[in-house]
Amino acid sequence: MPLSRALILGVLALTTVLSRCGGEDDIEADHVGNYGINVYQSYGSSGQYTHQFDGDEEFYVDLGKKETVWKLPEFAQLRSFDPQLALQNMAILKYNLELLTKRPNSTPAANKAPEATVFPKSPVLLGQPNTLICFVDNIFPPVINITWLRNSESVTEGVYETSFLSNPDHSFHKMSYLTFIPSDDDVYDCKVEHWGLDEPVLKHWEPEVPAPMSELTETVVCALGLSVGLVGIVVGTILLIKGLQSGGPSRHPGPL
Ligand SMILES: *[C@@H]1O[C@H](CO)[C@@H](O)[C@H](O)[C@H]1NC(C)=O
Repeated sequence: MPLSRALILGVLALTTVLSRCGGEDDIEADHVGNYGINVYQSYGSSGQYTHQFDGDEEFYVDLGKKETVWKLPEFAQLRSFDPQLALQNMAILKYNLELLTKRPNSTPAANKAPEATVFPKSPVLLGQPNTLICFVDNIFPPVINITWLRNSESVTEGVYETSFLSNPDHSFHKMSYLTFIPSDDDVYDCKVEHWGLDEPVLKHWEPEVPAPMSELTETVVCALGLSVGLVGIVVGTILLIKGLQSGGPSRHPGPL
């Protein structure tokens, strides 16, 4: 393990990264298309080939199945991408990485500590199907385990995650999704394992249900509200009448 870790150089090449911006290069970009985000790293000998647009994944190439996987199925009807191109790129990256690793002054890149945030996709209503999103940022190297726990038990059903999406500083972010039905009884954790962390980090989430009011409190609040309202109407009417009586045309007409 230490050896394979030492071999990690992470992202070495963004071989065919072309940035298409809203205008000239020196103008701040409105839109950024990254055509071919290639990552190859030696741990478990794995790579990733993705295309991104405005920070979102357009597709990735499943290198094992040699298939292009579009983020939205609709994209596949408009465009196509030959997975062989990605495989060729990966072969080049692998070759380059092996060469670089053999260079005497090559040093392994430092691990960063990823940061995770958990939030629901839609406002939470008990019993209404929803999706929990675990957003993990500052990932480097791109080797990570993001898993979900429900009431401290591991959940695998209804889980989907994005590819590694690139950040300008060459770190990555990734999102993991869990479809769930909010319930009073269930609490959730997003568990992140990464070499930059001393131990796995758990990001806790549970539905925020307003504390249930007792029936007595409800009655009291209701009665109070009603009496305040009635008093308001009476006082308001008196003031209105008084104002109308004393107010001549010379006075400023209030917003009555
Ligand atoms: C991810 O999980 C696998 C299987 O439990 C483990 O072997 C591996 O070390 C984990 N990776 C990280 C980065 O912790």
